[in-house]
Amino acid sequence: MRVIVKDNYQEMSQEAARVVARQVLLKPDSVLGLATGKTPIGLYQGLVRMYELGVLDFSRVVTFNLDEYYRLPPEHPNSYHRYMQERLFEHVNIPEGNIHIPNGGAEDAEAEYKHYDEEIKRYGRIDLQVLGIGPNGHIGFNEPGTPWEITVGLVQLSETTRNREAPRFGGIENVPGRALTIGIKTIMHARKVLLLASGSEKADILSEALLNAPTPNIPASVLQLHPCLSVIADRAAGEKLVKKPTLKSFRTQEAIQEFELI
Ligand code: F6R
Repeated sequence: MRVIVKDNYQEMSQEAARVVARQVLLKPDSVLGLATGKTPIGLYQGLVRMYELGVLDFSRVVTFNLDEYYRLPPEHPNSYHRYMQERLFEHVNIPEGNIHIPNGGAEDAEAEYKHYDEEIKRYGRIDLQVLGIGPNGHIGFNEPGTPWEITVGLVQLSETTRNREAPRFGGIENVPGRALTIGIKTIMHARKVLLLASGSEKADILSEALLNAPTPNIPASVLQLHPCLSVIADRAAGEKLVKKPTLKSFRTQEAIQEFELI
């Protein structure tokens, strides 16, 4: 596991954008697993900027988004479809046919997640999976207690997650109770995983997930078992990692602390 703690959100986002850019430059037909939420907004801004500068070409890139609220049609203003269009897809040259997001408006959820799973498998596996982490340790919408063997599924959202989303939906009663999500098994099958964390509300859960024994109660903790995990946090989220005595080595510069965890 490689952990990088950056000084602030902007630095974290720039470093994350560099990781994704490197992936696309080295393998132009990369299959990228993408996350939504507040954390990767700066990453997407960085990628758009690199595209506009002519540094990056996405014409052969394939994307799979992690999740979507169930019973939220793609055109809904709070859908992750809309989020991705506005933050990334409208601004770069990923062919429409290469973009995959679970259809939250599908009548038959089981048919939809099975189809999504098959689509991922058609490409073999995800090359680089970008993840955020929920304050309860969820990754994708795999909430605490979710079995690790799910590839793609329909899951129940926890009250914590729904409460957190309530302001965006204008009240908890409007937040969907379920979501379609890529499961832990598919995440763990990705060649590389990039976990991003920002803000003090993530400090406790990030250190619990990375420094304690893996447990299904903290879904992100499974990532410790991934052979190629990079974590990029800002200082607020990474604070408790930096202080732990289990660090094998770390070096401190003005605005960066980078180290390997045992
Ligand atoms: C979103 C997703 C979620 C978020 C997590 C953190 O596609 O899969 O797991 O990454 O809820 O959300 P933010 O970044 O808003 O703190």
